[in-house]
Amino acid sequence: MKQKQLESYLQQVDGFEEPKLRLEQYPTSPHIAACMLYTIQNTFDDIKGKLVADLGCGCGVLSIGAAMLDAGLCIGFDIDDDALDIFRRNAEEFDISNVDLVQCDLCSLDAEAYVKKFDTVIMNPPFGTKHNQGMDMKFLWAALSMAKTAVYSLHKTSTREHIQKKANDWGVKMEVIAELRYDLPAVLQVPQKEIG
Ligand SMILES: C[S@@+](CC[C@H](N)C(=O)[O-])C[C@H]1O[C@@H](n2cnc3c(N)ncnc32)[C@H](O)[C@@H]1O
Repeated sequence: MKQKQLESYLQQVDGFEEPKLRLEQYPTSPHIAACMLYTIQNTFDDIKGKLVADLGCGCGVLSIGAAMLDAGLCIGFDIDDDALDIFRRNAEEFDISNVDLVQCDLCSLDAEAYVKKFDTVIMNPPFGTKHNQGMDMKFLWAALSMAKTAVYSLHKTSTREHIQKKANDWGVKMEVIAELRYDLPAVLQVPQKEIG
Protein backbone atom coordinates (compact mmCIF):
# COMPACT_ATOMS: atom_id res chain seq x y z
CA MET A 1 0.00 0.00 0.00
CA LYS A 2 1.25 3.50 -0.86
CA GLN A 3 1.69 6.07 1.93
CA LYS A 4 -0.93 8.39 0.38
CA GLN A 5 -3.46 5.59 0.22
CA LEU A 6 -2.81 4.68 3.87
CA GLU A 7 -3.26 8.35 4.81
CA SER A 8 -6.56 8.56 2.98
CA TYR A 9 -7.87 5.44 4.78
CA LEU A 10 -6.76 6.86 8.13
CA GLN A 11 -8.72 10.04 7.42
CA GLN A 12 -11.84 7.92 7.89
CA VAL A 13 -10.87 6.78 11.42
CA ASP A 14 -13.15 8.47 13.98
CA GLY A 15 -11.37 10.44 16.71
CA PHE A 16 -12.18 11.33 20.33
CA GLU A 17 -15.75 12.57 20.79
CA GLU A 18 -15.04 14.45 24.02
CA PRO A 19 -11.24 14.53 24.47
CA LYS A 20 -10.12 14.37 28.10
CA LEU A 21 -7.41 16.92 28.75
CA ARG A 22 -6.08 15.15 31.84
CA LEU A 23 -5.34 12.13 29.62
CA GLU A 24 -3.87 14.32 26.84
CA GLN A 25 -6.27 12.92 24.29
CA TYR A 26 -5.02 14.69 21.19
CA PRO A 27 -5.09 12.44 18.14
CA THR A 28 -2.26 11.73 15.74
CA SER A 29 -3.19 13.26 12.39
CA PRO A 30 -3.68 10.84 9.47
CA HIS A 31 -0.67 12.43 7.77
CA ILE A 32 1.69 11.90 10.72
CA ALA A 33 0.30 8.43 11.43
CA ALA A 34 0.76 7.34 7.79
CA CYS A 35 4.23 8.85 7.63
CA MET A 36 5.30 7.17 10.87
CA LEU A 37 3.87 3.74 10.04
CA TYR A 38 5.04 3.75 6.44
CA THR A 39 8.59 4.53 7.59
CA ILE A 40 8.50 1.85 10.29
CA GLN A 41 7.50 -0.74 7.70
CA ASN A 42 9.40 0.38 4.62
CA THR A 43 12.65 1.46 6.23
CA PHE A 44 12.82 -0.91 9.20
CA ASP A 45 10.49 -3.79 8.27
CA ASP A 46 9.00 -3.71 11.76
CA ILE A 47 5.23 -4.07 11.12
CA LYS A 48 4.35 -6.72 8.53
CA GLY A 49 3.78 -10.06 10.25
CA LYS A 50 4.92 -8.64 13.61
CA LEU A 51 3.27 -8.58 17.00
CA VAL A 52 2.85 -4.86 17.62
CA ALA A 53 1.75 -2.95 20.76
CA ASP A 54 0.25 0.54 20.54
CA LEU A 55 0.54 2.24 23.94
CA GLY A 56 -2.10 4.89 24.64
CA CYS A 57 -3.92 3.74 21.52
CA GLY A 58 -6.89 6.10 21.95
CA CYS A 59 -9.34 5.65 19.08
CA GLY A 60 -6.86 3.47 17.23
CA VAL A 61 -5.42 5.45 14.34
CA LEU A 62 -1.92 3.93 14.80
CA SER A 63 -3.18 0.41 15.51
CA ILE A 64 -5.55 0.43 12.56
CA GLY A 65 -2.81 1.76 10.30
CA ALA A 66 -0.45 -0.98 11.52
CA ALA A 67 -3.17 -3.56 10.88
CA MET A 68 -3.59 -2.20 7.34
CA LEU A 69 0.15 -2.64 6.82
CA ASP A 70 -0.35 -6.31 7.67
CA ALA A 71 0.79 -6.48 11.28
CA GLY A 72 0.37 -10.07 12.49
CA LEU A 73 -1.57 -8.58 15.40
CA CYS A 74 -1.62 -5.10 16.90
CA ILE A 75 -2.73 -4.78 20.53
CA GLY A 76 -3.83 -1.35 21.69
CA PHE A 77 -3.49 -0.38 25.37
CA ASP A 78 -5.40 2.56 26.86
CA ILE A 79 -6.84 3.58 30.21
CA ASP A 80 -9.99 5.13 28.78
CA ASP A 81 -13.09 3.03 28.04
CA ASP A 82 -14.71 5.75 25.95
CA ALA A 83 -11.72 5.87 23.60
CA LEU A 84 -11.61 2.09 23.42
CA ASP A 85 -15.31 1.98 22.44
CA ILE A 86 -14.52 4.27 19.50
CA PHE A 87 -11.49 2.11 18.66
CA ARG A 88 -13.75 -0.98 18.56
CA ARG A 89 -16.23 0.81 16.29
CA ASN A 90 -13.45 1.95 13.97
CA ALA A 91 -12.04 -1.57 13.71
CA GLU A 92 -15.49 -2.94 12.91
CA GLU A 93 -16.13 -0.30 10.27
CA PHE A 94 -12.86 -1.15 8.53
CA ASP A 95 -13.57 -4.85 9.03
CA ILE A 96 -10.17 -5.28 10.65
CA SER A 97 -9.61 -8.41 12.70
CA ASN A 98 -5.85 -8.27 13.42
CA VAL A 99 -6.27 -5.82 16.33
CA ASP A 100 -7.08 -6.38 19.98
CA LEU A 101 -7.48 -4.15 23.02
CA VAL A 102 -6.34 -4.03 26.63
CA GLN A 103 -7.86 -1.51 29.03
CA CYS A 104 -5.21 -0.62 31.62
CA ASP A 105 -3.24 2.13 33.31
CA LEU A 106 0.19 1.94 31.71
CA CYS A 107 1.72 3.51 34.82
CA SER A 108 0.81 0.47 36.89
CA LEU A 109 1.08 -2.22 34.27
CA ASP A 110 1.99 -5.72 35.39
CA ALA A 111 5.44 -5.41 33.83
CA GLU A 112 6.22 -9.12 34.24
CA ALA A 113 3.25 -10.14 32.11
CA TYR A 114 4.45 -8.27 29.01
CA VAL A 115 8.25 -8.31 29.20
CA LYS A 116 9.64 -8.68 25.65
CA LYS A 117 6.30 -10.04 24.46
CA PHE A 118 6.04 -7.70 21.43
CA ASP A 119 8.27 -7.34 18.38
CA THR A 120 7.52 -3.65 17.98
CA VAL A 121 5.97 -0.91 20.11
CA ILE A 122 4.44 2.18 18.50
CA MET A 123 3.00 5.13 20.39
CA ASN A 124 2.07 8.75 20.63
CA PRO A 125 2.27 9.08 24.42
CA PRO A 126 1.02 11.97 26.56
CA PHE A 127 3.62 14.78 26.43
CA GLY A 128 3.95 14.64 30.21
CA THR A 129 5.11 18.21 30.43
CA LYS A 130 2.32 19.73 32.56
CA HIS A 131 0.19 18.32 35.39
CA ASN A 132 1.41 14.81 34.59
CA GLN A 133 5.13 15.43 34.49
CA GLY A 134 7.17 12.40 33.50
CA MET A 135 4.26 10.53 31.89
CA ASP A 136 6.10 10.36 28.53
CA MET A 137 9.01 8.66 30.29
CA LYS A 138 6.72 6.20 32.08
CA PHE A 139 5.28 5.22 28.70
CA LEU A 140 8.79 4.90 27.26
CA TRP A 141 9.90 2.72 30.16
CA ALA A 142 6.87 0.42 29.71
CA ALA A 143 7.44 0.33 25.93
CA LEU A 144 11.10 -0.58 26.30
CA SER A 145 10.29 -3.43 28.64
CA MET A 146 7.61 -4.77 26.25
CA ALA A 147 9.53 -4.55 22.94
CA LYS A 148 11.89 -7.19 21.63
CA THR A 149 13.15 -5.14 18.68
CA ALA A 150 12.22 -1.46 18.64
CA VAL A 151 10.06 1.30 20.08
CA TYR A 152 8.79 4.06 17.75
CA SER A 153 7.47 7.02 19.69
CA LEU A 154 6.46 10.64 19.03
CA HIS A 155 7.91 13.30 21.34
CA LYS A 156 8.20 17.06 21.61
CA THR A 157 11.50 18.30 20.18
CA SER A 158 12.05 20.25 23.41
CA THR A 159 12.30 16.98 25.37
CA ARG A 160 14.90 15.39 23.07
CA GLU A 161 17.91 16.12 25.28
CA HIS A 162 16.14 14.73 28.33
CA ILE A 163 15.13 11.56 26.48
CA GLN A 164 18.66 11.13 25.12
CA LYS A 165 20.00 11.36 28.66
CA LYS A 166 17.48 8.78 29.92
CA ALA A 167 18.29 6.50 26.98
CA ASN A 168 21.97 6.69 27.94
CA ASP A 169 21.12 5.92 31.58
CA TRP A 170 18.99 2.95 30.49
CA GLY A 171 21.62 1.68 28.04
CA VAL A 172 19.29 2.07 25.06
CA LYS A 173 20.24 3.35 21.59
CA MET A 174 18.11 6.33 20.60
CA GLU A 175 17.78 7.74 17.10
CA VAL A 176 15.75 10.66 15.75
CA ILE A 177 14.09 9.28 12.64
CA ALA A 178 12.03 12.26 11.52
CA GLU A 179 10.96 15.73 12.58
CA LEU A 180 7.27 16.36 11.97
CA ARG A 181 5.13 19.41 12.56
CA TYR A 182 2.37 18.62 15.05
CA ASP A 183 -0.51 21.09 15.31
CA LEU A 184 -2.45 20.60 18.54
CA PRO A 185 -6.18 20.78 17.90
CA ALA A 186 -7.65 24.03 19.29
CA VAL A 187 -9.97 22.05 21.57
CA LEU A 188 -6.94 20.91 23.58
CA GLN A 189 -5.25 24.27 23.81
CA VAL A 190 -7.60 25.60 26.47
CA PRO A 191 -6.29 26.12 30.01
CA GLN A 192 -5.75 23.10 32.22
CA LYS A 193 -8.66 23.88 34.53
CA GLU A 194 -11.05 22.77 31.78
CA ILE A 195 -10.22 19.17 32.46
CA GLY A 196 -12.42 16.66 30.66
C1 LIG B 1 -1.74 11.65 22.72
S1 LIG B 1 -3.06 10.50 22.91
C2 LIG B 1 -2.72 9.41 21.56
C3 LIG B 1 -3.95 8.68 21.09
C4 LIG B 1 -3.77 7.77 19.88
N1 LIG B 1 -2.68 6.84 20.08
C5 LIG B 1 -3.47 8.55 18.64
O1 LIG B 1 -2.33 8.45 18.18
O2 LIG B 1 -4.33 9.25 18.13
C6 LIG B 1 -2.53 9.65 24.38
C7 LIG B 1 -3.41 8.48 24.79
O3 LIG B 1 -2.88 7.93 26.00
C8 LIG B 1 -3.95 7.54 26.84
N2 LIG B 1 -3.47 7.54 28.23
C9 LIG B 1 -3.17 8.60 29.00
N3 LIG B 1 -2.73 8.21 30.20
C10 LIG B 1 -2.74 6.85 30.20
C11 LIG B 1 -2.38 5.85 31.14
N4 LIG B 1 -1.92 6.16 32.36
N5 LIG B 1 -2.48 4.54 30.78
C12 LIG B 1 -2.94 4.21 29.54
N6 LIG B 1 -3.31 5.11 28.61
C13 LIG B 1 -3.21 6.41 28.92
C14 LIG B 1 -5.05 8.54 26.58
O4 LIG B 1 -6.32 8.06 26.93
C15 LIG B 1 -4.87 8.80 25.07
O5 LIG B 1 -5.71 7.95 24.34
